Amino acid sequence: MQKRGLTLGIETSCDETSVAVVEDGRRILSNVIHSQVELHREFGGVVPELAARDHLERLPQLLDLALDQAGTKPDDLDLIAVTNGPGLVGCLLVGVGVGEGLSAAWSRPIVGVNHLWGHIYAAMLTRPDLEPPLLGLVVSGAHSDLVRMPEHGRFEVIGRTRDDAAGEAFDKAARMLGLGYPGGPALDRLARTGDAVRQPLPQPSLPGLEYSFSGLKTALLYRLRDLGESVTPQDKADLAASFERSVVESLLEKLDRALSETPTAEVVVCGGVAANTLLRRRAAEVVGSRARLTMPPLDLCTDNAAMIAAAAFFSPQPGADADPIHVDPSLGW
Ligand code: KG4
Ligand code: ZN
Repeated sequence: MQKRGLTLGIETSCDETSVAVVEDGRRILSNVIHSQVELHREFGGVVPELAARDHLERLPQLLDLALDQAGTKPDDLDLIAVTNGPGLVGCLLVGVGVGEGLSAAWSRPIVGVNHLWGHIYAAMLTRPDLEPPLLGLVVSGAHSDLVRMPEHGRFEVIGRTRDDAAGEAFDKAARMLGLGYPGGPALDRLARTGDAVRQPLPQPSLPGLEYSFSGLKTALLYRLRDLGESVTPQDKADLAASFERSVVESLLEKLDRALSETPTAEVVVCGGVAANTLLRRRAAEVVGSRARLTMPPLDLCTDNAAMIAAAAFFSPQPGADADPIHVDPSLGW
């Protein structure tokens, strides 16, 4: 398999538009990210049509910036990598359409990248000597997955959620607490001023390596209903801390179990929720000295194109007569 040195990454699966240039799958030359938070704020969540249109409007400018910051010309590129799923279909189509246009115009090969793989590869950008086999906890807006990665480009899911993903649970809890969108980071901030002990909530517990967060969400709803008009800002902060603690301890309980069942030298915790303050602290404590823990820095936890370029570099390279890229909004591992 021939490896190509300079990869241009394009990520448009949800509400971040990002273009990056990565060298040898490990070194970020540029990673330009535009967040659509302001665009969606007044609607309290991501509006797919607005998101797709904004990706299309911003990509040309971000592309110029990414090439410029990397000191790269289209001629220098060896490969174009674009997220082809999972994500919002209109948003994915924009990235793939633009990528294919560039591939044709510049005569460069293009490859579709699984966004979930991308989150794991963000860890490879963080630690240049990190190699599989590894145990990964991928926690994002739509996924709470425990995976084993025996080698590059191969993943086995050993645990997942039955209902809401952790990020989705944080976003919904934040809405109940009146924090608006984006919920996860707002709940994180509020939880720092609260005390979980004052407002205990149940910790989800399912057998094996499965997660479930819908019961916890309902418990929060009922608690808020009971408090009614009398709820104070401190109650809300305490509830945020308690909700966060339940989600984080549940995530880590299964990671702990998976690590005990099959000891692994490398553990990765990644995805947007891995930006959470408590999760970062507790993950380090739970993994302890049993394995080396890699958690990407915050800007590589949330969606970005550098992780897409990195994943492409370590995946099979496209042949000369590769098929057009297939967009799959519900792509799994
Ligand atoms: O990976 P990501 O950026 O996009 C998806 O692939 O879904 O993850 C987004 C999720 C959202 O649910 C967001 O609320 C959550 O990550 N998130 C956080 C924090 N920062 C982002 N959740 C808790 N605490 C945070 N600091
Ligand atoms: Zn993501």
